[in-house]
Amino acid sequence: MEHALRFDAITLFPAMFEAVTRHGITRRAFEQGLWSLETINPRDFATDNHRTVDDRPFGGGPGMVMLAEPLALAVAQARSAQIAAGCAPTRVIALTPTGTPLTDRRVRELAARTSSGIVLVCGRYEGIDQRFLDTCVDEEISVGDFVLSGGEVAAMALIDAIVRQLPGALKEESAADESFVGGLLDAPHYTRPEVWRGQGVPDVLLSGHHAEIARWRREQRLAATSRLRPDLIEKLTESSRGNAQGAVQFVRAANEDVPSSEAATTTPAGVANNSRTTMA
Ligand SMILES: C[S@@+](CC[C@H](N)C(=O)[O-])C[C@H]1O[C@@H](n2cnc3c(N)ncnc32)[C@H](O)[C@@H]1O
Repeated sequence: MEHALRFDAITLFPAMFEAVTRHGITRRAFEQGLWSLETINPRDFATDNHRTVDDRPFGGGPGMVMLAEPLALAVAQARSAQIAAGCAPTRVIALTPTGTPLTDRRVRELAARTSSGIVLVCGRYEGIDQRFLDTCVDEEISVGDFVLSGGEVAAMALIDAIVRQLPGALKEESAADESFVGGLLDAPHYTRPEVWRGQGVPDVLLSGHHAEIARWRREQRLAATSRLRPDLIEKLTESSRGNAQGAVQFVRAANEDVPSSEAATTTPAGVANNSRTTMA
């Protein structure tokens, strides 16, 4: 299929991946053939009767370390299978807490690699022999500054984030205004009932005035980002600084539908400050 993206997960716990193949948006996209998944168990490449895939760390210390060889053989098999299936180029990504922190930008870049293959290496125990990481892996990705028990949950977070960006995965244009699009967080959402435990919803959302609603949502996105993630506002300001065109685009986006006299006085920093007032 033209847009199919293939994942091969190297994992000691293949059944965990049913969380993405059997539930929700990822399941629907899976059944539509937008992506596919194979799992490979490194135990199948162990050479002893016990199917050993780990050993004690050189230099001592607690825990066990995943052996390089079964992982290398598993990756080689995954790569060959992807190439044989016409999924090229292939990219090997290890999920590690020491990897590059995952961002929306990286997710979109990976989602754009339609018809390609991604091999996901899931660590366990104390981690993976460094020589395997140095020689068999193209990229290490972390899903956050915390330690999980294994790479499977991290790999599924990556799969989920990528799959929802594939053309046709989402029913509506839901991805257009999501958090991190344009460097901003999402606006708050409300649904029925109109009054819940004494709390109403912002009047503008009941007005039926689409332009005003769109403007309110943009203001809320700026306000929420300014309040909760000032680092993102800083990045937007940085990217527009020294780049006159970028600054103009940023201000235009923030002021769409705002009368031009108001818009002309609004700067990236000013937008952030105004937004804080709006939220208060
Ligand atoms: C218990 S962790 C190993 C932690 C390692 N000793 C350390 O302190 O960095 C076992 C495996 O879980 C996965 N893992 C844990 N935290 C992760 C994170 N934040 N992002 C991606 N993978 C993670 C990795 O595959 C790792 O090899």
